[in-house]
Amino acid sequence: MSVIILAIESSCDDTSCAVISDGLLKSNVIASQKVHELYGGVVPELASRAHQQNIVPVVSEALRQAGITTSRLSAIAYTRGPGLLGSLLVGTSFAKGLAIGLDIPIIDVNHLHAHVLSQFIREKPDDAVPSFPFLCLLISGGNSQIILVKSPSDMEIMGQTIDDAAGEAFDKCAKVMGLPYPGGPHIDRLAALGDPDRFKFSKPSIPGLDYSFSGLKTSFLYTVRDHVATDPDFIENNLNDLCASLQKTIIDILLKQLKKAIKQTGVKEVAIGGGVSANSGVREAVVQLCNQMHIKAWIPERKFTTDNAAMVATAAYFKYLEKDFSSLDLPPYARVKL
Ligand code: KG4
Repeated sequence: MSVIILAIESSCDDTSCAVISDGLLKSNVIASQKVHELYGGVVPELASRAHQQNIVPVVSEALRQAGITTSRLSAIAYTRGPGLLGSLLVGTSFAKGLAIGLDIPIIDVNHLHAHVLSQFIREKPDDAVPSFPFLCLLISGGNSQIILVKSPSDMEIMGQTIDDAAGEAFDKCAKVMGLPYPGGPHIDRLAALGDPDRFKFSKPSIPGLDYSFSGLKTSFLYTVRDHVATDPDFIENNLNDLCASLQKTIIDILLKQLKKAIKQTGVKEVAIGGGVSANSGVREAVVQLCNQMHIKAWIPERKFTTDNAAMVATAAYFKYLEKDFSSLDLPPYARVKL
């Protein structure tokens, strides 16, 4: 009999549900929440309320697209954390209710594990997947980490940000330029039209494999502020070059530590994941670095870079195969755990 898992992701501002059958993705439905654009960032209480409104239609649609009824489900998976507690509570409670109602096991998934394992999402049986061990550069709005992935359940953080995440650097600098939230995709688009060497911003010099983006953010803010003091149209007239130079600096920072980690571990494969891995410049630079170092680069499809339940379902399938089920009384957690 097939192993069919329904997974729910509700850690931040996307309500998502996916169905996988014997490890193959059958559906992946995502309802994004536009309401936060008005505020320039995610408003936790509004996110929880939107999850409550979205969750039933999103789950129904995922089942419909997969052509599967709840009676055929083998287990329910859900993102337990890290994330916004109110948002997590909606997915957690819904998943538990469904598992109890159907009398099937429940599987809790760490959101960061799911991002790392997103390379294992398969839509066709012959889709290629990485071999263990590999390095994952996990870059999102909340995290910037270099992770040594030894197995689906054994991951070691080798380096991480000591202040802002890469996505925050994109979003906060975008805000300085008056771009809408989230700014990352806008910077990506405009950077393609600009000169990446026009402006120089400060880069951290950190021993080991940790990251820091707060100095860059301040350097960007001061550069813009100083120019605007003498030329009020500075941002408008230099927007593409500002975006290209900022993106190049973020990529340089990300790749410097990644290169060190590759040398240190001697791995033969590198993957990227998280919202910022959708960035065109990051994707190109990682492929180039891996080619130079004669190792394999795993670049996720863009639809699997931001929050989605397909990655949660995929991470849960590994746990299902180990019969690693969860107790119904586990509470969600907000903070980073790996
Ligand atoms: O993984 P994710 O969806 O969730 C959070 O961790 O919140 O990542 C969202 C982040 C945001 O900071 C967004 O600006 C960034 O990913 N992002 C991008 C791009 N697409 C999304 N950053 C740069 N270039 C992109 N194309």
